[in-house]
Amino acid sequence: MSVSGGREQWSSRLGFIMAAAGSAVGLGNIWRFPYLAGINGGGIFLLLYLLMVAAIGMPVMLAEMAIGRGGGLNAVGSFRKLKGGLWPMVGWAGVVAGFVILSFYGVVAGWTVAYMVKSFGSLMPQALKGNAEGVFRAFTWDWRQQVAYQAAFMLATIWIVYKGIGNGIERYCKVMMPLLFVILSVLMVRSLTLDGAMKGVEFYLKPDFSKMSSKTVLDALGQAFFSLSVGMGCMITYGSYLGNRESLPYSVTVVTLMDVAVAILVGFVIFPAVFAFGMEPTSGPGLIFITLPAVFARMPMGSAFSFLFFLLLFFAAITSSVSLLEVCVAYFKDEFRWDRARASWILGFATFLLGIPSALSLGGHFPKVFGMDFMGAMDFLASNVLLPLGGIFISVFAGWSWFDGAREEVRRGGRLPRPLEAFWVFSCRVLAPIAVTWVFIGSIR
Ligand code: PHE
Repeated sequence: MSVSGGREQWSSRLGFIMAAAGSAVGLGNIWRFPYLAGINGGGIFLLLYLLMVAAIGMPVMLAEMAIGRGGGLNAVGSFRKLKGGLWPMVGWAGVVAGFVILSFYGVVAGWTVAYMVKSFGSLMPQALKGNAEGVFRAFTWDWRQQVAYQAAFMLATIWIVYKGIGNGIERYCKVMMPLLFVILSVLMVRSLTLDGAMKGVEFYLKPDFSKMSSKTVLDALGQAFFSLSVGMGCMITYGSYLGNRESLPYSVTVVTLMDVAVAILVGFVIFPAVFAFGMEPTSGPGLIFITLPAVFARMPMGSAFSFLFFLLLFFAAITSSVSLLEVCVAYFKDEFRWDRARASWILGFATFLLGIPSALSLGGHFPKVFGMDFMGAMDFLASNVLLPLGGIFISVFAGWSWFDGAREEVRRGGRLPRPLEAFWVFSCRVLAPIAVTWVFIGSIR
């Protein structure tokens, strides 16, 4: 970590890119992506998701990094410094979104820790008997166990954020990200060499256009958003720690390629295995926690593979959860002059408390909110309301309100080829606001 002008900075470009990619790659890629792809017809979803990432996700991420480096402050402070007026509200909504997402993110991430332990317990024998779903239900019903794992995960997140962006986030991401690719590649080879794996590959790679509906398109767009960590000021916050010599388009390209690569790899782990064992790709949010243990149980060294997979999911989740907490910590640190230790512990603990109802809700121990379980309601509020709204305003800010400044930041440290820059401008000004408004309206209907 180096400190310039009193503010922390990434110690190297690699450190920044690893941290940003670590934020992007998370439960969104590994847990959410395959289950949405499974529900939405496989290949067609993959195709649409890639399209949305390129057309909307990348331009909005570039806008966020430009705002962050231009403003040099947290998500709220950057907007205030660059333009003022009502704009800081966009950052404020982002801080709230980070807080809300992290509350249930910690719960699901806690499951991954629990499943690492369970891999060596009764999970494999139960899954072999076809009772993986029973194990999952019993676990989510036992709220004490869930809260304990959630607490453990949140403690780890707080610890990394407390250590600071250079010593903490950057160092952990530099180790965890490459490890993630290694473990995924091993699992992919295992999956692809199963008997009958090719049916899964076909499902995953061959787009069936008859399965395309407006919901498929909306799901793909939403997934692109969530998966790239855009729409809530995360890349603003990370960009604010970036030095002036680095090229933003280069960073965006590398981060996006890594995010997409992980999602694609995960598909090659899950679908061949699901089809090889004659299971359903459409089992929904439980796909990983219910289907995969059953898959692992029928493999040689199943416990070890299961452990590896959930370890990988844990790594992916923690490099995302630290970015979510960092958005809130940076805000309280810059705006209220809290020191890093105080901000990390207080905000981390508050997020943990807000997550407890989510942990209770899965086993039916918490009342429903607007007909949804509490976790579903939090996810809805963050992913379907706050992120899309944030994305619209961020692109409008960069494309119209602060356009000259944003373009200057984008050009600093190496220029984009002209057609690509023109596309970025078009996306910020027209495409992203309109398309995201469409997702937003579609998701609340
Ligand atoms: N992108 C993360 C994931 O895929 C989630 C996330 C969203 C992180 C928004 C930060 C900000 O799991």
